[in-house]
Amino acid sequence: MTHKIIIDTDPGIDDAMAIHFALAEPSIELVGLTSIYGNVTTSQATRNALRLVEMGCQRVPVAEGAYAPLAIEAKPPAHFVHGPEGFGEIPAETPRGIPDKRAAARFLAETCAASPGEIVICAVGPLTNLAVALRDHPEITRTVKEVVIMGGSVRAPGNVSRTAEANIWNDPHAADAVLSADWPVRMIGLDVTQPVRCSRADFAELAEAAPVIGGFLNRAADFYFHFHVQQRGFDGCYMHDPTAVIAITNPELFTFEDAPVRVPVEGEDIGRTVADPSRGTRPVGLGMGVDAQAVRERFLGVIREADACRARQSG
Ligand code: BDR
Ligand code: CA
Repeated sequence: MTHKIIIDTDPGIDDAMAIHFALAEPSIELVGLTSIYGNVTTSQATRNALRLVEMGCQRVPVAEGAYAPLAIEAKPPAHFVHGPEGFGEIPAETPRGIPDKRAAARFLAETCAASPGEIVICAVGPLTNLAVALRDHPEITRTVKEVVIMGGSVRAPGNVSRTAEANIWNDPHAADAVLSADWPVRMIGLDVTQPVRCSRADFAELAEAAPVIGGFLNRAADFYFHFHVQQRGFDGCYMHDPTAVIAITNPELFTFEDAPVRVPVEGEDIGRTVADPSRGTRPVGLGMGVDAQAVRERFLGVIREADACRARQSG
């Protein structure tokens, strides 16, 4: 089975891991990337997305997304987690290609409309582009196959406040619209992304097995490891965004509970994802259990082969 996926992304170190996984995984056809602010600014996210697909020697369109949240002021980019330009200490390179002419929301809507029922949108950044697509192209709820989100948490504590996860907190109004719309959504939140961890040794091994792609991820991740050592007490990293992509290719590695979700847009719980049966909106599939070792091995196995995949693409 081929999974046709658009990744909506703010690259970002774990975003780069997710995108290289999608580029190298044989069962995925990456049909586009859409950029969003979060780990970096939107224009930096667009440049980084272009660089990642060029690194993988693939022609994947990149459409630029929104520059700010729907209703609150934009937070500063998360440079302390992902480095000044998104890939740790690796300096920005100018991509050869240019972005798609369409804005991200239009790109999402038109790509889904061109292949009704086939495209999965995998959102691994703040959800503004998806909310704009819902507002301006409401037919997308009928043409998309599924929406899979890295964001939120049900039982785990938040990672930017006591209760909020970063992607949801960056644009809570957008998240509330996306999680309450009448389309199929699965949420891969901190409950299932934090148990999935790779170590510094895992990435050193990837750099040997696949010097170009594994080497790049290993160099970028050095900065991310420092953040995890200082803030989380282990020498490795959470595999947030790759876990969301693997939930598409390997749903059997996860367990889900269905419930409507509400996102507070003000107060101390701003950006929390609250499972709320009384809301009456379409239930969201909430990722609550994960075979963390199997997800980790799935990631490592695909990236080990990433240079071979790149060579096939360029040959
Ligand atoms: C999410 O926030 C970003 O920093 C990561 O790329 C991931 O998408 C984790 O909370
Ligand atoms: Ca991300």
